[in-house]
Amino acid sequence: APEVFREKSLMRAWSRYHRFQGKTLALVPTMGFLHEGHLLLVRTAKSLADVTVVSIYVNPGQFAPSEDLASYPSDLAGDLRKLSAAGADAVFCPADLYHSSPGDLPIEGEAASCLEDDGSGHETWIRVEMLEKGLCGRSRPVFFRGVATVVAKLFNIVEPDLAIFGKKDYQQWRVICRMVRDLDFAITVIGLDVVREADGLAMSSRNVRLSPECREKALSIYRSLSKAKISAEKGQKNSHELKYLVKQMISEAGGKIDYVEVVEQQGLQPVEEEISCPVVVCVAASFGDVRLIDNVEINI
Ligand code: PAJ
Repeated sequence: APEVFREKSLMRAWSRYHRFQGKTLALVPTMGFLHEGHLLLVRTAKSLADVTVVSIYVNPGQFAPSEDLASYPSDLAGDLRKLSAAGADAVFCPADLYHSSPGDLPIEGEAASCLEDDGSGHETWIRVEMLEKGLCGRSRPVFFRGVATVVAKLFNIVEPDLAIFGKKDYQQWRVICRMVRDLDFAITVIGLDVVREADGLAMSSRNVRLSPECREKALSIYRSLSKAKISAEKGQKNSHELKYLVKQMISEAGGKIDYVEVVEQQGLQPVEEEISCPVVVCVAASFGDVRLIDNVEINI
């Protein structure tokens, strides 16, 4: 069974001990309620490094007050069983990662996050200024500063050589890559392909909140993305046509679309008109009150 740490100082001591022994460390950051997608990251981490640390922390800094922090699913006992079976060496599950009285300075004119502001705690944020703005950043303005900041904290506590992320959260993966590059973290960031249920639905901790009816309708996301990919590979290079196809199929199934975008794979800048570089088609849509994201890469 993995060693379980709730204290930052003990986690750091364990990491340093292994580093001094010449071991390489991989970190897999998660918010728990683990599914097969998370576990694939863990197994990949194990194959690439000597020791694997998994963090489980539902980060209030990346949720806006209007979002689902309070109802975010959790099952620590189940997670620890799964991580034990997957062969994780250590699990970091702090009760709180922020200093005793987290503050939360709002971004001008934008919603603050779920860190409470009593003026004496956390006030340092990392912002990846261009990448955090588009796609999910538009409807979730504090999300990526919260993710970048908590991941930087985890990197500083665990000091891994490798960090593994899923491309299911494509923009998040790119934000972390950019932060690591720009701030000279000595960490290799690896992105792994989206892991799906047998019927194509991208695995997500939030899927359990879909009613059976919405679960069925939500398949339109993957079906539409697959269709767009095939269509592009057959020669349809017009990004508006591809977006229209995806929007049409999801709306017809009753999904409420937040965005459908065709963006280039590095800087995630929208590709208008003709596609002439590798792109990713990104979708965010709600079924019932569950917001889902998914994407497909098209390598032209
Ligand atoms: P969470 O949603 O728990 O996801 C943890 C990691 O698992 C992320 O890198 C995510 O991209 C990956 N993942 C989730 N579902 C996946 C799937 N179906 N296929 C492949 N990878 C998948 O993302 C977060 O937590 C948080 O924002 C975090 C990075 C931990 C910062 O708080």
